[in-house]
Amino acid sequence: MHTRPEDIVITSDNSSRLCARTIKADFPVLSQDINGHKLVYLDNAASSQKPQSVIDELSRFYSEDNANIHRGLHTLAERSTNAYESTRKRVAKFIGCQNPDEVILNSGTTAGINLIAYSWGEEHINEGDEIVITEMEHHANLIPWVILAKRKKAVLKRIPITSDGRLNLDDIENIITDRTKILALSHMSNVLGTINPVTEIAEIAHKHGAIVVADGAQAVPHMPVDVSTLGVDFYTFSAHKMLGPTGVGVLWGKKELLDKMQPFMTGGEMIREVHFDKVTWAEIPHRFEPGTPNIAGVVGFAAAIDYLENIGMDKIRQHEIEITRYALEKLSKIDKLDIQGPTEPDIRGAAISFTDHNVHPHDISTFLDSKGIAIRAGHHCAQPLLRILGKVATARASFYIYNDEADVDALVQAIIEMKKYFGV
Ligand code: ALA
Repeated sequence: MHTRPEDIVITSDNSSRLCARTIKADFPVLSQDINGHKLVYLDNAASSQKPQSVIDELSRFYSEDNANIHRGLHTLAERSTNAYESTRKRVAKFIGCQNPDEVILNSGTTAGINLIAYSWGEEHINEGDEIVITEMEHHANLIPWVILAKRKKAVLKRIPITSDGRLNLDDIENIITDRTKILALSHMSNVLGTINPVTEIAEIAHKHGAIVVADGAQAVPHMPVDVSTLGVDFYTFSAHKMLGPTGVGVLWGKKELLDKMQPFMTGGEMIREVHFDKVTWAEIPHRFEPGTPNIAGVVGFAAAIDYLENIGMDKIRQHEIEITRYALEKLSKIDKLDIQGPTEPDIRGAAISFTDHNVHPHDISTFLDSKGIAIRAGHHCAQPLLRILGKVATARASFYIYNDEADVDALVQAIIEMKKYFGV
């Protein structure tokens, strides 16, 4: 028996809802038709769309200011340097960091985690030491630790997940021990949507003298994050998932740790003095920003932060709790559709993975695309997690500030049509 859209009746309180329709109008890419249908973009966990203000800022920068930074003494170089450095300050304020020198601008979350794994890891990890991750990590917060553990003959341990996709902390005191040197965990899972109790677990890790690295790629775009109270030592995220340009990211780290770290990549701009036989390093953050960065992207990132702050991160989080609740309720009423992750919107974000009993996730995605709906299907760069879930792939719809109930309705309607189409 097929579920009909009219069978699914949900009422919800719209009081604190963002006006997603007004927001949508700021995103030119969203106004197009795909395959004869209005585009419904639900692949935000992979990458968000960009508002006109970000696109304009990129164009303005290249049209008016463009020059390399920290090098030239001419006007354009000065303007570019100022714009770049003012983004650093903007980012610091956005994440509650008092000292902008603790903000390293790089190409994305992956770059940040690799930097810690190589720079901090090389010096501090020895044979027999333990590195603790979780079973729900994205490859970006997994492979660097696998490689580090192999290189140093260290032991990689993991915090398991429960059947409803949370971290199982029952055995945490045996997993994190005095041998633990690093705990690396995602703030929010890109597959399960779970928001992890980072502060609580970080406290345990610190009690044992470990450092804590949090992957905030899925969290920072969607909720207020304050690194001064979160309780971690390093925090990483990417601009492109939060309305900013691709190829820009942030590694925040505590000054006392960054100050003592050796650079991972070397070259121009990150030095103090260079001789044929000896090199000394620049102070942080420049020590970790070799070569010419994505200057325009960084400048455009400031416009993205402006856009998010104008709405307010609290309001964005509230909007996503409501849209997640609505989506979970509607999707859970569809016959033979399984949803991964926690069922309570309060402890999860708006990335919702699901599988149909009969239709492969890739076919789901292709069918939805024929209706103008963009989702992601695959292993979501989390193969070990998918194996634990017993799946080779899932379909994933992920929502953001410009999505509303109408988008959820379109998704549900299309899934119902898909089931009819495949006769399942
Ligand atoms: N990490 C991104 C995702 O989950 C690419 O889709």
